[in-house]
Amino acid sequence: MYDLIEIEKEIEKINLSESIPENEPFRQYYFIKKIKETVDKLYKILDRELTACVVTFGCQMNARDSEKISGILKSAGVILTDSEEADIVVYNTCTVRENANLKVYGRLGRLKRYKESGKNLLTILCGCMMQEPEVVEKLKKSYRNVDIIFGTYNIYLFAELLSEKLDVILENKIKAVESKTKMKVSLLDSYDNIVEELPKDRKYSFKSGVNIMFGCNNFCTFCIVPYVRGREISREPEDIIEEIRALAKDNVKEIMLLGQNVNSYGKNLEKPISFAQLLRMVCEVDGIERVRFMTSHPKDLSDELIEAMKDCDKVCNYLHLPVQSGSTKLLEKMNRRYTKEGYLNLVKKIREAIPDIALSTDIIVGFPGETDEDFEETLDLIKEVKYNSIFTFQYSKRTGTPAADMPNQVDESVVTERFNRMLKLIGQISEEKSLEDVGKVFDVLVEGIDDHDETLLTGRTEKNYLVHFKGSKDLIGKIVPVELTESKGFYYIGKGAFD
Ligand code: SAH
Ligand code: SF4
Ligand code: F3S
Repeated sequence: MYDLIEIEKEIEKINLSESIPENEPFRQYYFIKKIKETVDKLYKILDRELTACVVTFGCQMNARDSEKISGILKSAGVILTDSEEADIVVYNTCTVRENANLKVYGRLGRLKRYKESGKNLLTILCGCMMQEPEVVEKLKKSYRNVDIIFGTYNIYLFAELLSEKLDVILENKIKAVESKTKMKVSLLDSYDNIVEELPKDRKYSFKSGVNIMFGCNNFCTFCIVPYVRGREISREPEDIIEEIRALAKDNVKEIMLLGQNVNSYGKNLEKPISFAQLLRMVCEVDGIERVRFMTSHPKDLSDELIEAMKDCDKVCNYLHLPVQSGSTKLLEKMNRRYTKEGYLNLVKKIREAIPDIALSTDIIVGFPGETDEDFEETLDLIKEVKYNSIFTFQYSKRTGTPAADMPNQVDESVVTERFNRMLKLIGQISEEKSLEDVGKVFDVLVEGIDDHDETLLTGRTEKNYLVHFKGSKDLIGKIVPVELTESKGFYYIGKGAFD
């Protein structure tokens, strides 16, 4: 169900003195209203507004989830801030590599001190890490400053969980007793309900992610995502289009369709539909000027999709196509279900259809059993494809995944040496590659003011190049032509071709 007018009518009718609605999303809208009332009462006691800080770790999926969490907080009258010295702090966690995981523990220590000094009232953890039982055990044992834990399958319950804890805090404040609440853990092990019709606070007013599916069925042997995000579920195309129409009405120009493997979108719907068909439908929405998607698994990328990308002007000239390794032997051990040759043929086919397409990829160095020869195969593939950008990762052992128990785990010093060798090669290629487009004019969606130089604007081309150029602030959120005048490696300097 995604009839916004109907939903709004129902929300209007919600009355806190009546019984709590059973159906979603109305149940959560009831709690949003209730939080608002509690926040007003706390305002009077604390003599200040209640603040919240939502910190996102991980991928675009998590970024979108954080917009849902912020949306609920904002609708309930809580003021959002970037400072973690806030009344409510939410960590939306990632566990794809151990580093992501360790960062959270490190920062939780600091939050504990904030809580002790009264700066923080509620510490809330959610996201992928919470779906790992050993993490939750550790938190219960050693991080008692955490008040609420919820997972990836029940974000929609956030308002309900928060309302309960804020009521306890209010009660304690009224009684003037120390504000301690018991840790509330709310976890599911699969989706019981998909509730998307809740408020969202977009980071950018002019671009937005849109979930088209959740979970992953691929079980690449290194990857924890299928264990923490569950099996693949696609949203109904009508619901997706309705959401995008509403975004277009709200001045959104660029859409990023989100899924762990968008190429298998729609296969399990009652009325199956392909990702290519969905993409064509999305491009028909008036007001949307650019469409991107993430992530495309090479094994499922169809000719039909290449055709759709070629036909639809709104689809950006950019494709992220994670390869992980250039060694067919390792690809098999990774359960990626394509070979080096198969991948290279796919790249060739895509470039034949869309000659000017920008390509990016993900590569893992040091997967168990990786020999020098395997690694050379990866370098060889990088030289052959000449990607526009590459995201490189050192293999990180994730408990519970098949690769964690594989023999011949690669020594850390060997991984570091290979990793550095690869970065050097990537540096050389990208220097060469980035010069190709200097002197050309590209349409740039202006995203904001440059962090380092406030006389410059910053934006992205269709090919996802970052460009800094001089221009007026009024251009933020608009698409304007910019000439790339100089390549700086990871970004370009440009000159507006609009005056
Ligand atoms: N669904 C996406 C990837 C999501 S995870 C896809 O299939 O492309 C993003 C990237 O993290 C992966 O592409 C992979 O390169 C990297 N990654 C995942 N698990 C990892 C691990 N255990 N160690 C190192 N990198 C990993
Ligand atoms: Fe992980 Fe593979 Fe699924 Fe991507 S496709 S999320 S790498 S299991
Ligand atoms: Fe991390 Fe979860 Fe995304 S593990 S990469 S935040 S799906």
